[in-house]
Amino acid sequence: MTKNKSEEEYRQEQIEQIMRLKAERNAVIIVHNYQRDEIQDIADISGDSLALSRAAVRTDAKVIIFCGVYFMAESASILNPDKMVLLPVREAGCPMADMVNPEKLLALKKEYPDAAVVCYVNSSAEVKAVSDICCTSSNAIEIVRAMKEKRIIFIPDKNLGMWVQRYVPDKEIILWKGFCPTHIRVTAEDVLKAKEGFPNSEFVAHPECNPEVLDLADHVCSTAGMFKYVKSSNTKRFLIGTESGMLHKLRKENPDKEFLLPSSKLICANMKLTTLGWIAHSLQELVYEVKLPEETRKKACRSLKRMLEVTKESAGAAIAGY
Ligand code: 13P
Ligand code: SF4
Repeated sequence: MTKNKSEEEYRQEQIEQIMRLKAERNAVIIVHNYQRDEIQDIADISGDSLALSRAAVRTDAKVIIFCGVYFMAESASILNPDKMVLLPVREAGCPMADMVNPEKLLALKKEYPDAAVVCYVNSSAEVKAVSDICCTSSNAIEIVRAMKEKRIIFIPDKNLGMWVQRYVPDKEIILWKGFCPTHIRVTAEDVLKAKEGFPNSEFVAHPECNPEVLDLADHVCSTAGMFKYVKSSNTKRFLIGTESGMLHKLRKENPDKEFLLPSSKLICANMKLTTLGWIAHSLQELVYEVKLPEETRKKACRSLKRMLEVTKESAGAAIAGY
């Protein structure tokens, strides 16, 4: 009688297959902090959007397996035209990135000809191509401050734009009306209730949350910023105001500390599409390649590279195993 494989045996087999194919293909596995736990565990490099953009520039591997959402793999491809960048699940997109397009942006630029466009990396290559500079949640304040223009069109996340405006009052920020469908789900009421049930905790939030939620935060930062903050704090309990995937590494790196989400709705369905099976498939078949027309790539690359030049090396650099 043949014994059914246990889930764990099956998982181990998948991991072995991935490791074998990774070596054969000379590939690197780059993983965003919101990915499933088991994907984070096989990462060569993990981090926030900024750290992953930097890692994509530095890698010597021939193939980049990007475990995240489309705009992240696209940024890696823009910065690495000679490498093969693969997104294991073609449908893994970011709804916020789809909330702005070049036509609408160009129309707004006409209304404000003196403004510079600062474009959050959660956007398409076509939109980056008609922007002046990119930013991530790690460096948005620094980038807006560095612009010589007094007026800034900030796209597409209105919450991040409003957050930046608090710190850069001498500039006028024209907001786009985009938002993250995951982060806006957490309410101030959720946070207050969660704090009550989790005494002596600090609330750390991502700037994509609504302003009234950010008002309750002890610290607001990118996902990489959260790892740094938690490590440096003497507090033992943290409410984490961002996507659920963050809990895995936070718990692993800080076994003496406790972490909870203020809402069970903090799950980005797109980030969870990638599985070990899809990564093995991606390496086996070399799919799905993210490649752009050269003209768009070059223009988008200018905005991304300008961001990387402005941002100091230290910002957002929580890169595991790199
Ligand atoms: P980070 O750059 O902070 O990792 O955020 C990316 C993102 O998509 C947040 O929803
Ligand atoms: Fe996009 Fe929000 Fe998911 Fe981040 S969490 S990838 S902004 S939908």
